Amino acid sequence: MTTQPIQKTRRGFLREVMFGWFLLTLLPALYVVAEYLYPASNREKSLKDYPIAKVTDIPFNSFKIFKLKKKPVIVMNSESGQIKAMSLICTHLGCVVEFKPEEQKFHCNCHGSIFDRDGKNIAGPAPIPLKPYRVTLTGTDILISEA
Ligand code: FES
Repeated sequence: MTTQPIQKTRRGFLREVMFGWFLLTLLPALYVVAEYLYPASNREKSLKDYPIAKVTDIPFNSFKIFKLKKKPVIVMNSESGQIKAMSLICTHLGCVVEFKPEEQKFHCNCHGSIFDRDGKNIAGPAPIPLKPYRVTLTGTDILISEA
């Protein structure tokens, strides 16, 4: 006769544990649904017409490195005055690449990828070129946008 209340309590405890476990298994499913409805790409606005430098900051045949969203971006001015910008993040596993002006190439010291002056991957494991930015000139400002 005294075992009845103990069984009831144990049953109630197990029911609560099972309900909690059920709720925990729902969390990943809810996360997937939320990610589908509000994708991460929509949460962060893409960069558009960001004034990264003045034309006078980067003379002909030179380059300068800037931080953009905490990531390095190189802005290059050719001998003919053509300005281009690209990310210095290696497309293999995300190391920072180094520009070697004497070779006119980018080298990644992590796994040996090499990119030409235009950012095209020419050696090593990097699968695609460095990320380019669209460059617009307005007056003396160099504006960059995500391509
Ligand atoms: S991260 Fe650059 S080659 Fe691997």
